[in-house]
This record gives sequence, structure tokens and C-alpha cells, in this order.
Amino acid sequence: MILGVNVDHVATIRQARKGVDPDPVMAATLAILGGADGITVHLREDRRHIQDRDLKVLKEVVPVELNLEMAATKEMIGIALKMKPDMVTLVPEKREELTTEGGLDVKRHKLNLKRAVKTIQGAGIPVSLFINPSVDDIFIAKEIGVEMVEIHTGLYANAKGKRQEKELLKVITAIKKALSLELKANAGHGLNYFNVRKIAAIEGLRGLYIGHSIISRAVLVGIERAVRGMKELIKSVQCQ
Ligand code: PXP
Repeated sequence: MILGVNVDHVATIRQARKGVDPDPVMAATLAILGGADGITVHLREDRRHIQDRDLKVLKEVVPVELNLEMAATKEMIGIALKMKPDMVTLVPEKREELTTEGGLDVKRHKLNLKRAVKTIQGAGIPVSLFINPSVDDIFIAKEIGVEMVEIHTGLYANAKGKRQEKELLKVITAIKKALSLELKANAGHGLNYFNVRKIAAIEGLRGLYIGHSIISRAVLVGIERAVRGMKELIKSVQCQ
């Protein structure tokens, strides 16, 4: 199972002073030394953290999977076609949100997403849709024509006890459905060192995309160690 590390938060700190430190590109390199199988950045319309320059340099120096998270807008599609990341994950985006709050409303935006996916795939870039753990949404993702989905694990991550078990079941069911329709299945959002194992143990899951918890730990112990710790947790449930 691959681990894609999201380095947006490193850029958030840099943008607090609008200078050059800390550099998300350096963080990406160190994350890779710690065992990251991929690097993710979300280029937002308002450029609140990752900048166009970051994507450009990452494209030049990242030897592992570079995943560009973006909204399905004309501007972002143009950037994706030019920068050619290894994959694009389409996400919903609201200016006022602190982070991506939910999966895409694939039912409502089906036509626009279908057009965007076709254009991006036309440039040879595989596309993933960030969707809620809903079987209906998996069917729509299949109709849209993507290769992959990323199941939103935020509700699972924020829940506790019985509620968390229920949310876990939704994630498992969505992943099973995706696999049965021959979609590759990833998961992400809100995963941390305490809740990742139950998700990592889901059979057939291709990858996990994690940012906040790894970068938060990295502030205290360094990014290589933080990534290595997460990789070890994920591996610990793979061989069971
Ligand atoms: N996957 C997607 C599509 C996201 O938008 C995010 C947040 O940027 C993540 C995964 C990572 O979430 P977190 O930072 O909570 O680990």
C-alpha cells in the first residue's frame, strides 16, 4: 500500500511570512527519504499555501508519484495539462473552508466532472475523484470514467466508539464496491497515528493520502521520522 504525503502545511507556514522558509520542496525530499511513496499538493484557487512555483519545482525533483489535488476549474485544468503531474485528484473547493470538508458532489457536478476528467486523461494523466463513502457515488464515479477514487475518511476519523465503527463500515463498503467495478481505491483525510490501522487493513486498498498528522508530528520529530513512523504503522497491518 502506498503512502502519499501531503506537504501543503509546510507551505502554509511559509506563507505566514510570504518568504522562502520552510520550503515544501525540501520537505517533500525529506519525506521521500523517510519512505513516502508519493507527494501530494493541493494548488488552491486562492494560493493560500502551495504556489505555482512549488508545483513546477516538485515536478522537476520528485522521483515518486506526484499527485496534484485541484478543483475542476478551467484554470486548474490548464495548469494540470501544462505541468503533467503523475495523477490528478479532483476535489471540491470552497474559499471559506479550512480544509477539504467533504467529497465531491458527483451527482450534481457529473457533467462538468466528466468533461474535466476526459480533458485531463487526454493528456495522459490518470484521474482520481475524492468522494464520500457512498455506494451511489462510486457508481457515478465509474460513469464519469475515472481510473481511481479516493474515499473521504474524515467522518471515520472524527468519530469515536460505535459511531466510528459505523463510519468504518461505510468506508469498507465503498472500497469493496469500487474494487468490484474495477476502480482503484485510495483513502484519505483525517488519518493519524491512532486511527490509520483500521483503514490500512482494508483489503485491496491502493494507497493512503495523509497530510496534517504527519506534518504536525514532523514539527516535533522531523519529517523523515514522522513519515517512517506512519509507514511502519501501515506495514504492521499489511502482513496480518
Ligand atoms: N486527501 C484529500 C483529497 C485531501 O483534500 C486532503 C487534505 O488536503 C487529504 C487527503 C489529507 O488530509 P489530512 O491533511 O487530514 O491528512
